[in-house]
Parts: sequence; C-alpha cells; structure tokens
Amino acid sequence: MSDLVEVIDTNNKGIDVLSIRKEFPVLHQEVNGKPLAYFDNAATTHKPARVIAALKAYYEQDNSNIHRGAHTLASRATEHYELTRTRIKEFINAPSAEEVIFTKGTTEGINLVANTFGKKFIREGDEIIISTMEHHSNIVPWQMLCENNNAILKVIPIFNNGELDFEAYKKLLSPKTKLVAVVHASNALGTVNPIKEMIDLAHEQGAKFLVDGAQSTAHLSVDVQELDCDFLAFSAHKLYGPTGVGVLYGKRELLEAMPPYQGGGEMISEVRFEKTTYNTIPYKFEAGTPNIADVIAFEQALSFINDCGKENIQNHESYLLGYATKKCATIKGFEPVGTANDKVSVMSFNVRNTHPFDVGMMLDASGIAVRTGHHCTQPLMDWYGIEGTVRASFAVYNTTEEIDRLYESLVRIAKRNN
Ligand code: ALA
Repeated sequence: MSDLVEVIDTNNKGIDVLSIRKEFPVLHQEVNGKPLAYFDNAATTHKPARVIAALKAYYEQDNSNIHRGAHTLASRATEHYELTRTRIKEFINAPSAEEVIFTKGTTEGINLVANTFGKKFIREGDEIIISTMEHHSNIVPWQMLCENNNAILKVIPIFNNGELDFEAYKKLLSPKTKLVAVVHASNALGTVNPIKEMIDLAHEQGAKFLVDGAQSTAHLSVDVQELDCDFLAFSAHKLYGPTGVGVLYGKRELLEAMPPYQGGGEMISEVRFEKTTYNTIPYKFEAGTPNIADVIAFEQALSFINDCGKENIQNHESYLLGYATKKCATIKGFEPVGTANDKVSVMSFNVRNTHPFDVGMMLDASGIAVRTGHHCTQPLMDWYGIEGTVRASFAVYNTTEEIDRLYESLVRIAKRNN
C-alpha cells in the first residue's frame, strides 16, 4: 500500500487524458442523467475511433475472404490481416509471426492448448498446476482434460492479501508436473503474479507454462522471450480492440508438435479421402474463415497503445489505482478484497452490510459503471467466503474526477448501512 501512496504523489505525467478521451466516442454520453464514468475495463475496454473506422473501412472498401482469392480486394484484406499478426509479434516480442495464432479470445486460446497439447502430451497420473485465483476459463478446460486423460489438477493456495503462496507452489512442482497454467494478473483482485520466477521453476521440472494474459497485456509490457513462457493467451477486446478476436502465442516446436484443434478449410495442406495432411503454423490452427474485420481493426488498437506508450499507460493507471485505493479506504464500511503489493488497476471491494449487486445498481443510477459478482472466479470467492465483490477497474482514459464521483457515491451508499 505504501508504494501506491508514493505513486500518487510523484507521477501522473506523460499522458494527456483529455485528448485521449476525445478518441473514445462512447465516453461522451450521459447514463441515468449523469456523465458516464466507465470503470468496467477489466471486462472490456472501450474502442478508440480509429478501431471503429478500421472496421467500417474494411466492410466498405476491402470486404473479401483472405488467403484464397486471386483478386485485388482479397489481397488487400489478406495483407491487412497479416499486418496485425506482425504487429502482435512485435507487441509481445514473439520470435516469429508464425507463432501468433488468431483465436476468438483468451478462452479459446486456453481451450486450444488443452485440446491439442493436452490431448497429445498429458497422460494418466500427470499433474497440471493452476492457482486459486484463476478465471473459470483457466480452470474448466483443465478439469475437462484431467477427467478425459485421468490426470491430476493441483491448485496453488493464496494468502489473504491475494498474493500466491510461492513456497506452496514450489512444493507442488515435481517431475510429474507437465503443465502450469496461471494468470499473470488477476481479473478479480488485480494481483500481478511473479510469473517469470514461476516459469523458471516449472521449466526446471520439465513442465510447460501457459500464461493467461487476458488482464496483463493491457497494463504491463509482456515479452514472451524474456518470460520464456511456452504459451500466452489474451484477448483484443481488453486491449482497446474489437470483441471476438484473441491471440494464442506458442513456442514453434510445441505448435509444430501439437495436433490441429479444428478441421476445415485453411488448416490443411492436402485433403484426400484416404488421408489429409495439415498446413504449417499458424494456419494449422486457423480452420475456416476467421474474424477478418476484427483482426484487421485490432491493429489500430495496437497503434493506439503504441501512441500512448505502454509505460505512460502503466504510470497513469497506477496513479489512478493508488488515488482510488487511498481515498476509498477512508470510507466507513469499505472492505477491499485483494491488497497485493503488485497490482494492475483493479480495485475490488465490498461495502459492509450491502450486497455487491445493490452497490452496482446504486452506482449505475449515478452513471458509474462497475462489475459486480464473482467475476468468473467462483473458487476464489469461495476461498474468501464471499458471494462476490464490486470491481472498479481503470483504463488509460479514466480520470481522478471520475474517481471522486465514485468515492462520493460510495460514501452515500456506505452511510445507509454502516
Ligand atoms: N473476464 C472478464 C472480467 O473479468 C469478463 O470481467
């Protein structure tokens, strides 16, 4: 907490939030008679005008299927689609663009690994390690795999502040561990896990490591070569990009060794009734017509992030998190959930004697958008013995004035029952 307070006093530079806000049409509206204050960014971020324009331009000027047509529109669409792949390679510092696979989102990326790598390499008695703070999408695919392959799922415990019990993790690791799948930054708590150290330890035991980067890629610099992770899954829509697009990065040798996920067009080399051979990566994992328009528009979201500067985004969001955390801590009945030292800009909390859903409804009446509930982390909520939380998650376009409004509304709500 002391680190956060320091950030408040020293850093809110490098970013012109008011200019940035001008790029987001959706922010300029009233909700329930009040200006919208949007704090549901961990669920999905809003889209800058350039992303919306790219979607429109594709349908108005280039609409065509990719990788197939021998005509100009098809080549333009293919070129733009592949440009996004190159930009993603740069964004996560992947060794090559072939190791970047387009998916529908983080969930599909994780399911892809469970159904291909898992199917081929996880055997009876093998162990998969996840953590208590995983999103359902990084729990259920592994449960399904373990059920099918008679493998064993192990869970790293956490401490009350929402940090992983690192010593317990070390004890869970053994030569039986074949895969560790852990979230980089928790959607429900904001905790940033020491993922690099965790990957190194997993590798010492010969295990592969999948990073759930759904939240971290929007806030932190994620370099797959520096981390040396085997897989990284994330979604465009939490990165100012469109919904329905995600990325799975995988190390080349693993992707090449894995069987295909889905059969269909594009993923094949040759099809005969007797035998089909498969395409090279990444196409082996991209069966059927993909989400062309949204992939193309995703490139504009990456350009927005590059224009802001990842470090500037990070500084601004830490500032907002520190400001909100410090201010709301003074409210009688404000109960933070997740107070790890290292956090992305997620403030999860409850108001004593008030159901999170009611808090959300009352905030909405004041034009303030938050998420309430279990945040698709039911085992984590069970661990805390709570039904859910209220979650305010901040993005680059949020301001301290908006947080002041959140604070004032929470003061009113908390007063009713405390
Ligand atoms: N996983 C998203 C969230 O945390 C939907 O809200």
